[in-house]
Amino acid sequence: MTLKTPLYDLKKFSNVYEPSEDTFLFIDAIEKDFSFLKQLKPAIAVEIGSGSGVVICSLAQIFSNSCTYFATDVNNQACLATYNTGCCNSVSINCSNMDLLSGFNDYLFDLILFNPPYVVTDIDEISGQGLNRAWAGGVCGRVIIDKLLTDVQKYLSPKGVLYLVLLKENKPEQIIDVMARKGFCSDLVLERRIPGEHLFIYKFYRK
Ligand SMILES: C[S@@+](CC[C@H](N)C(=O)[O-])C[C@H]1O[C@@H](n2cnc3c(N)ncnc32)[C@H](O)[C@@H]1O
Repeated sequence: MTLKTPLYDLKKFSNVYEPSEDTFLFIDAIEKDFSFLKQLKPAIAVEIGSGSGVVICSLAQIFSNSCTYFATDVNNQACLATYNTGCCNSVSINCSNMDLLSGFNDYLFDLILFNPPYVVTDIDEISGQGLNRAWAGGVCGRVIIDKLLTDVQKYLSPKGVLYLVLLKENKPEQIIDVMARKGFCSDLVLERRIPGEHLFIYKFYRK
């Protein structure tokens, strides 16, 4: 299946991350993993840090109404943009302004997608709710990623899968190790070198 780039319009949302190479690589990974995802048959999916909303809307091209779509973002403008992109593409997305999945204590997701702020920055740059939150990742670009990994397992259903965008500087091999100790296998779905960045899309699932 070929996924079309969802319609989106960020003119009213200048503080929201514009879909970029990492975004489109993530969509390519979803497209590449079509057969795996079809077999998974997720009933409930969430994108953390949905930004414009084009990634979760791309997923919805595969599952349309057979899946319920959630999204979260620390940036409230991104939540509005995601809702708007959902409307433009006739996808109903429940988007909430929260840190990671902190408001979803009673939910088990079959699919969690996250293109995190992965750039190596000073820790002070991880503050507020603005556009800086789209890229500022602190030490090794890992601060937000590591925060998610602490208890991501409690948000995943028994068949649940986490798809994560990573940068070489994030030391993906360490993340694979952290997840292995929690009982998760990992597969590299896609990798791409773009000017200045070597990006990976990994998926993690229980053995
Ligand atoms: C690299 S951008 C990705 C945006 C979009 N998913 C895409 O692929 O184009 C990272 C997004 O994560 C959001 N974000 C950063 N830290 C977050 C956190 N702790 N909880 C939820 N969202 C967060 C940012 O506001 C931003 O929208």
